[in-house]
Amino acid sequence: MEQLAITGGSKIFTTPAHVPPWPPVYPETAEKLKDIYLSHRWSFYGKEEVEFNKAFADYTGAKYCAMMANGTVTLELALRAFDIGPGDEVIVPAHTWLATGEAVVYTGATPVVVDIEPDTLCMDPDKFEQAITPRTKAVIPVHLFGSMADMDRIMDIARKHDLRVIEDCAHSHGGEWRGQHTGTLGDIGSFSFQQSKIMASGEGGACLTNDEVLAEKLGRLSHIGYQFGAKQGQKGTPPPVGLICHNYRVTDFQAAILSSQLAHLKEDTLLRQKNAEYLRKRLNAIPGIRVQAAGKHATLQSYYMFAIMVDSEHLQPGITRQSVLDALHAEGVTGVDLGWGQPMYRQPLWTVPEDKYRIASCEIAEKIVFNDLMICSLQWLMLPQNELSMVADAFEKVMEHYYRA
Ligand SMILES: Cc1ncc(COP(=O)(O)O)c(C=O)c1O
Repeated sequence: MEQLAITGGSKIFTTPAHVPPWPPVYPETAEKLKDIYLSHRWSFYGKEEVEFNKAFADYTGAKYCAMMANGTVTLELALRAFDIGPGDEVIVPAHTWLATGEAVVYTGATPVVVDIEPDTLCMDPDKFEQAITPRTKAVIPVHLFGSMADMDRIMDIARKHDLRVIEDCAHSHGGEWRGQHTGTLGDIGSFSFQQSKIMASGEGGACLTNDEVLAEKLGRLSHIGYQFGAKQGQKGTPPPVGLICHNYRVTDFQAAILSSQLAHLKEDTLLRQKNAEYLRKRLNAIPGIRVQAAGKHATLQSYYMFAIMVDSEHLQPGITRQSVLDALHAEGVTGVDLGWGQPMYRQPLWTVPEDKYRIASCEIAEKIVFNDLMICSLQWLMLPQNELSMVADAFEKVMEHYYRA
């Protein structure tokens, strides 16, 4: 057996991998940003924001897109658009970023946490159905990392019980389920454009919907009551009394950055899908390693991250997931790490008191997320082919030492 780099053997990556910087920058965008700056007009349904709303709606096949400050307030306003509030319950998956659950808490409603599927790591539709009560108003499936929630089953269950569906697409720009873009399968799709995301403008978010009434409401809720699309100072019609609105606006600078990224989205999504499929094949063949399954009916799987599970119950005595990570890092595979490391309600930033949320089920999430899950970054899914192959070699080498059948 070849000696591991962590114990003094030679490294697989003798020079650093060619990791592309993220987010990408394009010279034409820099020019555009300068023009916006010199135009003296930077926000409030500016030209760029209006154009991006239209372009993203067109790209995804949605009728309407409403940009907002980030992918947390998009979730909050999607819930508010359905008048969800105190006394209501909203079902969320156990494994997601804490914003998915906290957005529910912001409205005064109760997040009800349900378990994930062991293969896709997304919401388990059976667990979703079992958690429905007379107070349940909505469900937020999350298309997590490099997979998709089972939208066929989730939509069937939701329609049967008259529940609203808000897709959390913070990881799913460019993804298609049976040929339809994620975020257009439910009632509202919520996207994040935060710095690390597939499309990134530093901060930012957007809601998609096909419903004109919802679009109008989302516009008002995020633009302090202004009619959807109305410029500052334009009269428009006033908001209805009782609709308490926020300022969750974005600037034209963000919209311009996103418009140029949209032009590259298809090509980049296809590249990451191809690379992920290569890694999936290589890594799934290694004893003790298993890769997150793509969406069951994904016709184009977008990859925000690539989730890899190590069978922590069958490692050599004294070896843990962390030891595997340390050994991979020593081989030069620095793009694989722990991720959040905990289910949503155990993340250090989750401060919701126990009486303000309910856990209906979470066994699979607890087991996988605590012990097995490792995350390969989006940039590492964009390595040249020979370096992708070296990543797989490093996994083979480490697991040869650390796995016990
Ligand atoms: C699944 C998920 N939902 C929502 C969000 C919130 O997005 P933002 O950071 O733009 O508020 C994130 C951010 O990481 C996320 O991962």
